[in-house]
Amino acid sequence: MLHIDFANCLEDRVAEHGLEEGFFDGNSPASAAATVATRKLAQTRGTGWERWRELTNDPMRGEHVRGVKAAVSACKQRNFENMVVLGIGGSALGNIAVQSALNSPTWNMMGSTSAGGKRNGPRLFVIDNVDPAYFGSIMDLCEANGGVEKTLFNVISKSGETAETAAQFMIIREMLKKRLGSAYGGNIVAVTDPAKGTMRKICDAEKFLTLPVPDGVGGRFSVLSPVGLFSAAMCGIDIDAMLEGAKDMDAACSREKMLENPAALLASMLVEMGTAKGKPNHVMMPYANNLYLLADWFRQLWAESLGKEKDTQGREVFAGFTPIKALGATDQHSQIQLYREGPNDKVIGLVAVEKFSREVEIPTGLGVDALQYLEGKKMGDLLNAERRATEYALVESLRPNFTITFPQVDEYHVGQFINLWQIATAYAGLLLGVDAYNQPAVETGKQATFGLMGRKGYEEHEKVVRETLQATKWAWRG
Ligand code: PA5
Repeated sequence: MLHIDFANCLEDRVAEHGLEEGFFDGNSPASAAATVATRKLAQTRGTGWERWRELTNDPMRGEHVRGVKAAVSACKQRNFENMVVLGIGGSALGNIAVQSALNSPTWNMMGSTSAGGKRNGPRLFVIDNVDPAYFGSIMDLCEANGGVEKTLFNVISKSGETAETAAQFMIIREMLKKRLGSAYGGNIVAVTDPAKGTMRKICDAEKFLTLPVPDGVGGRFSVLSPVGLFSAAMCGIDIDAMLEGAKDMDAACSREKMLENPAALLASMLVEMGTAKGKPNHVMMPYANNLYLLADWFRQLWAESLGKEKDTQGREVFAGFTPIKALGATDQHSQIQLYREGPNDKVIGLVAVEKFSREVEIPTGLGVDALQYLEGKKMGDLLNAERRATEYALVESLRPNFTITFPQVDEYHVGQFINLWQIATAYAGLLLGVDAYNQPAVETGKQATFGLMGRKGYEEHEKVVRETLQATKWAWRG
């Protein structure tokens, strides 16, 4: 199992910036609130927007795994050289994080196993933006490596209405049609709502192979559904082990006592620090490159779920915390100066790896006194020493921090990490009294975009945007 060391969040280490020991006491108000939340979550699990809690259990788990594996074996027969995921937000960040955590950073540069190389799946690109230069470059690369004929497009959109994904989809559909004629649909696998929505209608009409984003599973809570599982399985990732890890974490996060329940513990600490101790900035800083993009996935989960103007009673609360990602040891030479001497407004979550998937030894023999201490040491030991040193340095300047440790980075522990934060987010939503599953503030920007892009029915939005942002003298132009 993962473990969490939170001693550096206590008052005896970081004085008034930390929590009193009594906070964790079985009879404390925080423990009582956590227990109430655990009971509520037990009642709501598997219902409404909390159907994602059942993704690790049968029957949903079995159905999804069977569907994903059948789709993977159908696609493997086509020997696709490239796979391009088209999605954004919760329909992309989990895919990126899982691939980056579990496959080599050089995956796309490796030769495929069919050509005697080590890559046992297609090259994977997740295009989560509508930057034409970026999109065009990836298409050029696919073209140079088997062409679009040998490229599988995995369109992920629960609604099918998301402008970015819809635009990408329209481009690749046209491209495939020109190249493959009526067989173009064989290069598309869509992950979308099984019953409703614009993408569902398109898939039914065009007979694409589809996998479901079930009802009650919102984008940012969907990585353990076919949204994240299909691209992972295509790239050789053991999705059974990932779901097993997530399931074991779910069991730990169902315990009533706060100290025994890691999600309740993290949420209680971070909510208290964020609201009562002036620490609304929450940093996630893995000391491992392959975990860095999990911090990106966490940023969406924490920001979009908890950042709310109103609580569930409709009162103005302006809740939420600013999630920040950093990378150890790289950001020791960039951010740590600020974290130690700037405003004491952060809680820093370090992420450690006990045993790296490989080791590199620093050779002996340079013979320079100042560098002698490095000779014969392992690179992983240097990285972990730097993490311990940062932990100490943060405590020394009274900056609260905690460490989540992976015994090793594999599917089982990545599944645990994902579910730990998903469940912690559900707890934090309850403790803050906000709806963790909606995102009303995202709508205004979407509607304004529709207006600016000339969508019928959004003329008024276009007018308001132009009037509000009309040019004034308040600009500098060179
Ligand atoms: O977390 C969320 O709900 C969002 O980030 C969505 O995933 C994102 O907006 C994409 O939506 P859709 O899958 O409907 O295209």
